[in-house]
Amino acid sequence: PRPIDQLTIWDDAKAMIRKARAEGIETVHERLDQQTPHCKFCELGTTCRNCTMGPCRVSEKKPRGVCGADADVIVARNFGRFVTGGAAGHSDHGRDLIEVLEAIVEGEAPDYKITEEGKLRTIAGEIGIKEAGRDIMDVAKDVMECFFADFGSRKKEVSFLSRVPQKRKDLWAKLGMTPRGVDREIAEMMHRTHMGCDNDAPNTLIHAARTALADGWGGSMIGTELSDVIFGTPKPRMSTANLGVIKEDQVNILVHGHNPVVSEQILAAARDPELLARAKELGASGINLAGLCCTGNELLMRQGIPMAGNHLMTELAIITGAVEAIVVDYQCIMPSLVQVAGCYHTKFIDTANKARFTGAIHFDFQPRTAMQQAKEIVSIAVEAFAERDAGRVEIPGEPIEIMTGFSNEAVIEALGGSLDPLIQAIVAGDIKGAVGIVGCNNPKIKHDSLNVGLAKELIKRDILVIATGCVTTAAGKAGLLVPGAIEMAGPGLKKVCGSLGIPPVLHYGSCVDNSRIMQLCAALANTLNVDISDLPVGASSPEWYSEKAAAIGLYAVASGIYTHLGHPPNILGSETVTNLAVSGLEDLVGATFFIEPDPVKTADLFEERINAKRKGLGLDK
Ligand code: SF4
Ligand code: FE2
Repeated sequence: PRPIDQLTIWDDAKAMIRKARAEGIETVHERLDQQTPHCKFCELGTTCRNCTMGPCRVSEKKPRGVCGADADVIVARNFGRFVTGGAAGHSDHGRDLIEVLEAIVEGEAPDYKITEEGKLRTIAGEIGIKEAGRDIMDVAKDVMECFFADFGSRKKEVSFLSRVPQKRKDLWAKLGMTPRGVDREIAEMMHRTHMGCDNDAPNTLIHAARTALADGWGGSMIGTELSDVIFGTPKPRMSTANLGVIKEDQVNILVHGHNPVVSEQILAAARDPELLARAKELGASGINLAGLCCTGNELLMRQGIPMAGNHLMTELAIITGAVEAIVVDYQCIMPSLVQVAGCYHTKFIDTANKARFTGAIHFDFQPRTAMQQAKEIVSIAVEAFAERDAGRVEIPGEPIEIMTGFSNEAVIEALGGSLDPLIQAIVAGDIKGAVGIVGCNNPKIKHDSLNVGLAKELIKRDILVIATGCVTTAAGKAGLLVPGAIEMAGPGLKKVCGSLGIPPVLHYGSCVDNSRIMQLCAALANTLNVDISDLPVGASSPEWYSEKAAAIGLYAVASGIYTHLGHPPNILGSETVTNLAVSGLEDLVGATFFIEPDPVKTADLFEERINAKRKGLGLDK
């Protein structure tokens, strides 16, 4: 096996990998070794399995599949479907929030409510629904209908395009990139990539961008906004992160996945006096809830619930031996967690019919019965405390302080009611620009080395960092999410963040919450009366792995944001597709991807780009 020091930058992770090896438990790292080297054709994107005349693998020697498709067509089709898988994931998550809102409106969800009436009214106004003087439930019903319709085929564009600068919308219209309906674009991509349909790589990629935009300005944005409406808009608050948030003397429940619809109820149930009393009867001092990945981010942002870890920490969290239950909803949940949980007393509980795990305890979680089901789940965890083997418990390290809760609403409030102070700081050059660092971990990259390395490099150069997804935990553990982190920032950023009492890296939420960043960019562009592509901003996913991350990257680029990836998607087998991604898109949408594994070089490229955009806006001579 590879030496542990090469796998991760974190002491808590190293301790648990060591424990796993001592106890003979396999993790993602060993499985990666088993799978290496990977299939070269698949890495290049030049395999096709879209029909049974194949499967085909094309190369210089055999340049066409049985049907005649060449590498360009095959790579574009594969990438198109890859992005579409990601868009489908986020957007189906968004739809689940609409369904909860529907259940609230119909009186079928006694455990959920409209928490942010003001925000719901603001959204209604933005999407053209009259709200003044109307009962909130009537407004909610119309918003719900409008968002459901955003998934269909009867609209010319999804509702939240009302937020997009007109210049950008005109560009999309000209290119045939305007997202019309979420499910429509997803289904159309499946159609286009069927054998014998879209056999022109650039044309396929335009539709891939349209599908990604339907996610970023459609499904994901609906997911974020309705989660705020139902569970509350995040506000700055303090919390903690790393495996040290697991408590030796308590019943530990980890929530993992993406959707707050389940985890918010688990949180409420974990505070139930009867369940607490039972936990004490069994010798625990309380019930401790902690998050993993994005459902962790959702609870952290809104409720300050501590974060146990990001993607590559999920197996390791169970290996502490102190986790009574891991409760999952969907996305990014390694199926191996069932096996790892099986090595301990840990109960693995899944909650969604669309994300079931063989060997799990299953709950078909429904809005109507949410609290009752959540209590049953917490009760299973409490009873499991009696089965814990104290001799196998090892919780490494002490929790690190973090600041969370930066929604756009919170940022605007911190700025005194408008974006103007932020714009002034950018104009003055105290803040040179901003980069959103988002996404995942990937065992092919030393865990969190790039996520943290890039964030540190950027803030040194007075570039504000906005973090979402698994990058948030990385930034938090590196001490970047506290106001004191300004000591690691350049003088300008230090001054601005210092005066506001905020960190130089802002925790902006989960992966669907990248829509908050899109909204912020659009608002900045609208205020300055420019296009998003004119702004001194960038996006990065240094350690990305998932289809969802590819969809995010593509909607960022298609929205005009220069976007970094720490390693390439499986497209290098086509020069046409690769060239389009890393240069040709510039002419079309005013931004491209760039691939760079080194954090310092990446920061150099961002700085160069940001300086050029500043010049373009007339900010620097
Ligand atoms: Fe091969 Fe063409 Fe079928 Fe793909 S669609 S498997 S390239 S014959
Ligand atoms: Fe995520």
